[in-house]
Amino acid sequence: MLFASLVLMLALPQERESSVSQSASGEEVVEPYKVDPTNAGAQPFAGADMAQAFHGQEGIRRVVEQFVSLNFADRRVGEIFMNQDKVRLKRVLFEQFCYILNAGCTYTGRDMRAAHKDMGVQQSDMNRVVENLQSAMQMEGVLFNAQNRLLAKLAPMRRKIVGR
Ligand code: HEM
Repeated sequence: MLFASLVLMLALPQERESSVSQSASGEEVVEPYKVDPTNAGAQPFAGADMAQAFHGQEGIRRVVEQFVSLNFADRRVGEIFMNQDKVRLKRVLFEQFCYILNAGCTYTGRDMRAAHKDMGVQQSDMNRVVENLQSAMQMEGVLFNAQNRLLAKLAPMRRKIVGR
């Protein structure tokens, strides 16, 4: 009993502290922003073709998991991702791709300029991240034509992501 209350006393303040910087989902809290699906930075495709080409939400989730893992482990861009909130990144990237591919989601993340602000992303970093996305889509067996259609939607975001 005494031991149990000692454990409680030690555990409680810690828990209170972590609830300040982390939400219940395990994500770090970010600065408030206006939630708006147009923050995704591209209009969704029409129809179900693209969602099917990515094997629905389950396929999109696998692509995002793989894409994020490749970026974090990458020798060239890994440093930029290191220490960032992987849990949030996976969730909102999934939403973004799912929204753009018209697979039945909305996007609740930040706009591309705000999300990549002060990160110092170079064009070469952008190229590397696109290569990692291509690898992730390849591993999922997404056909080449559908891969390129998604990449074409993402291409104009470069202006907001690459720093000057
Ligand atoms: C077309 C290419 C890209 C897309 C579609 C994209 C998409 C996103 C999205 C949706 C988020 C999360 C926004 C939020 O938290 O609300 C994000 C965050 C992030 N992106 Fe990108 N991104 C791209 C390129 C890049 C590149 C080239 C880099 C660096 C090499 C990069 C590094 C990051 C990092 C580190 C975060 C986490 C930021 C944080 O937690 O504060 N991204 N990106």
